[in-house]
Amino acid sequence: MQDTEFSPEQHKTWAELYRRQLPKIQEHASSLYLEGFEKLDLPPEHIPTLDHLNSKIPAATGWTVIRTDIRFTESDDWYRFFDRKEFLITNYMRSWEELDWTPEPDMFHDIFGHLPLFMLPEYAELQEMFAPAYLASTDDEEKENIKRLAWYSTEFGMITENGVMKGFGTGLMSGGDELTNAAEGKLEYEPFTLDNVLGKDKVMYEQHDHLYVIESLDQCKAEIAKYFDPILAGGSAGSSA
Ligand SMILES: [Fe+2]
Repeated sequence: MQDTEFSPEQHKTWAELYRRQLPKIQEHASSLYLEGFEKLDLPPEHIPTLDHLNSKIPAATGWTVIRTDIRFTESDDWYRFFDRKEFLITNYMRSWEELDWTPEPDMFHDIFGHLPLFMLPEYAELQEMFAPAYLASTDDEEKENIKRLAWYSTEFGMITENGVMKGFGTGLMSGGDELTNAAEGKLEYEPFTLDNVLGKDKVMYEQHDHLYVIESLDQCKAEIAKYFDPILAGGSAGSSA
């Protein structure tokens, strides 16, 4: 597959973001993320090639990385790729002026935020729960709840490790002070449960002041399965929202 050419400015943005985020993830990211980060071995100075990513991830978990020119893939399309264990990374890179925070996910978010965790089979299992439920659902509110469960776990969840709260969600890894603020206890927190998350709108255009904490990967999977299992069995998830 042809690898995309990026400009010197885009590589410079990657390198600067990497330099800024590295000490933050080392201090505040979950051990799961850091384990995957070490295994994926992203280059500090330039945007990784697709060949690099696909020399690591498919062998680890069976997922494949695909580049797209689409800046923001709609959910229905996104989950169809997810169902084939294909993770889309956008070719869009934030501008230098947006280094600290961008509301729009860019390639730094997609690669640096998401991909390290796709080196871990136990994490890939969690991500593999979402597409079957989303694609089986025929109810718009239920689909929105599936996206909320993803948003407040894989995108912006926190996790408790040995009694310490760490960043788990990929959106926390890829920019600004959100990870530091979240891990230093500056926000409000509730346990990641269906009761707490269902019906809670995603916060997309500002930083969060309220996040949800998973106890462990297994607890997260078990909680999500409670909502997804009835959908997969052909029914609705019910009115627990
Ligand atoms: Fe994301």
